[in-house]
Parts: sequence; structure tokens; C-alpha cells
Amino acid sequence: MNKKRIGILTAGGDSPGLNAAIRAVGKACMGHYGFQLIGFRDGFRGLAENRVMALDGGQLSGILTQGGTLLGTSRDKPHRMLVNGQICDVTEVIQRNYAENALDALICLGGNGTQKNALRLHEAGLNVLHLPKTIDNDVWGTDMTFGFDTALGIATEAIDRLHSTAHSHHRIIVVEIMGHNAGWLALGAGIAGGADVILLPEIPYAVESVAAAIKERSRNGKPFSIVAVAEGAMAMDMHASIQNHSKKKKAEATELAMAGRTLHLAEALERLTGLEARVTILGHLQRGGTPSAADRLLATRLGTAAADLIAEGVYGVMVAAVGDGTQPVPLIEVAGKVKTVPVGHGWITSAREVGTNFGD
Ligand code: F6P
Repeated sequence: MNKKRIGILTAGGDSPGLNAAIRAVGKACMGHYGFQLIGFRDGFRGLAENRVMALDGGQLSGILTQGGTLLGTSRDKPHRMLVNGQICDVTEVIQRNYAENALDALICLGGNGTQKNALRLHEAGLNVLHLPKTIDNDVWGTDMTFGFDTALGIATEAIDRLHSTAHSHHRIIVVEIMGHNAGWLALGAGIAGGADVILLPEIPYAVESVAAAIKERSRNGKPFSIVAVAEGAMAMDMHASIQNHSKKKKAEATELAMAGRTLHLAEALERLTGLEARVTILGHLQRGGTPSAADRLLATRLGTAAADLIAEGVYGVMVAAVGDGTQPVPLIEVAGKVKTVPVGHGWITSAREVGTNFGD
């Protein structure tokens, strides 16, 4: 029987459930199918530098519940990697390492960036599969990414805890939630945590509208408010000012504006409402620690499905979660697309119906 040799790496920002997925791939590939599996450290950089990690010893034991990734990760891209101070395209080096390791397939665990890089390598002749992970839940073509549910729980608990202190001090607490240019995490945690205002990248806001909602609450005997703001949320005037920019300039302007934006928002709310405001930036707390049960389950489903697809010889795909099952989706159909929150999404409708303000 042909004993396939599989490589695996984790790339992009880490996310809870990566170890659960590595374990699932490993147990299904080696235990169930009798394949060989090796890991590459630190994402595509480790693949280019041929830094291999054996996974056939005890490495997969006891990692289901662990956060982070035992392989390490990086945001390095094969076609633009910093090598000796210079940006280089290392695709050929990667092709060579893939061949020298006698690989039949490479599994890349990551978000949107990883997906694009996986497609590039697939087009360069490697048999690639992508497993969608990110706390942002912004990968097109899959119901859910692993990491999202854990981060949702962490951000929701944070809002719960902020409520009691905001209430006691009659304050506005502005809590910044990750998500890059997508609002899934802020929206989900905002609803689950009962935030009074939720600001999303998908719905440009007017600070006056947010202040009016907070003042209205005060008049109704609730002189405290929780504002859940996605890190990519943008005021209407700024949003309008970058609309004609190129994609690259838009991204640069967004990054620049992100720095300090939440602090400015809190200052403006203080000025406009007369209430004291405080800021909490949840940051990387949302990516750390043990994965939730739902993420362990999703990562295990996707990891074992990847092994099944390799056994069938299906490559060039993302292993998507669809309903209770999984589906291979061609990378060419999804790479480069970002799943943002549709403004008419049911979560938004529900939130509006319970009185949440979106700043619009
Ligand atoms: O994509 C996941 C994510 O956590 C985003 O929500 C956030 O914008 C970004 O990564 C932060 O990245 P870094 O690891 O570079 O701080």
C-alpha cells in the first residue's frame, strides 16, 4: 500500500483550536489511514527553511485542550518573505523542500492570508489543503472558523464583567473587540453580553447618534452604558473620506486610523454625554488559552475530514464546515474573498429589535 507522506503547518495569527486540529489530522492520518505526518515550524517560514518537527512520537498526546499551536506560527508569505534583509519570493525553495521531504500533500491551517498563500502553492504544483481558523470568523465559504467560538466566549465574559463596574460607577465603558475588518466577534459578543451600543466595520457610525442613545438611557434611569466596538469600526466621515482610495491605500488609512480610535471615541462620548468614560481593549486575550468545546469539536471535524480528502486524493481545497458536515471548496473559488457581516444579517435585526444602537 502507498504510504502517503503529509506535511502540516499553522500560519497567520494563532487561534484556539489549532492544536485540536493538528491532533485530529495526526490521529486520522497516522492512526486511521497509516500515512506519515511531519510538521513545519512557524508557518511558511519553517517550510522555506525546512524546519521540520516529527509528529509520530508522543507529540499529539494531551494537546486537545491546549491553546496556541505546538508548531508555532508566523505571518510570513511564500512570495514575499524577508530573507537576509530582503523581500524574496521563496516559492521555488518551498517546491524543493516539498519534493525533498517526499510529500504527497501539505495541510495549511490559517485564515484568509493563509488561504491565498495555499492557493499560490497549489498553483505552483503542491497538493495543498486549507483548514479555516481565525477568531475573526471572516473566511468565505465556511459556516464557521475554529477559534471564533472561544473568542466569543472570552469577549462575552469580559462584557459581563464590565457591566457591573460600569453600573456601579455610572460610566460608559467602551470595549474594543478584535475582528480585523469584520464585525462577527463584536456583534456576537455584543449581543450575548447585552452591550447597549455595537459598532461594526460594516456599519459606519456617527458618534452623535451613539451619544444620543446613551443620553436616552440616562434619562430612563440607566446612567451607564457598554459600547462594544469592533477594532475595524469607522466613523461615517472617515469611511466616506477613504471610499475612493485604492484597496492598498484604504488598508493603510484604516491601519493608521485604528491606532487610538477607540480612545478618541471614548473622549468624544464623554464630551457629548457628560458621563465619565473608560476604555478596555481586549486584544490578544481573545486569542489565548484553552479552546471551547465547540471549537475542539469543529477543529476535530475539519482535521479528520482533511485526512479523508487526502485518502481520496482531493487537493486544492479548503475543508469547509457546512451544517453538520464538511465540504471541500476549491481554493480558487474562495481565496481573496472576505466574509464580512451582511448589514441585513439576522443577528443585526435581532439586536436592533432588543434596542441595541449601531451608531447609524
Ligand atoms: O486575524 C486575527 C487577529 O487577531 C485580528 O482580529 C487582529 O486584527 C489581528 O489578528 C492581530 O494580529 P497580530 O497577531 O499581528 O497582533
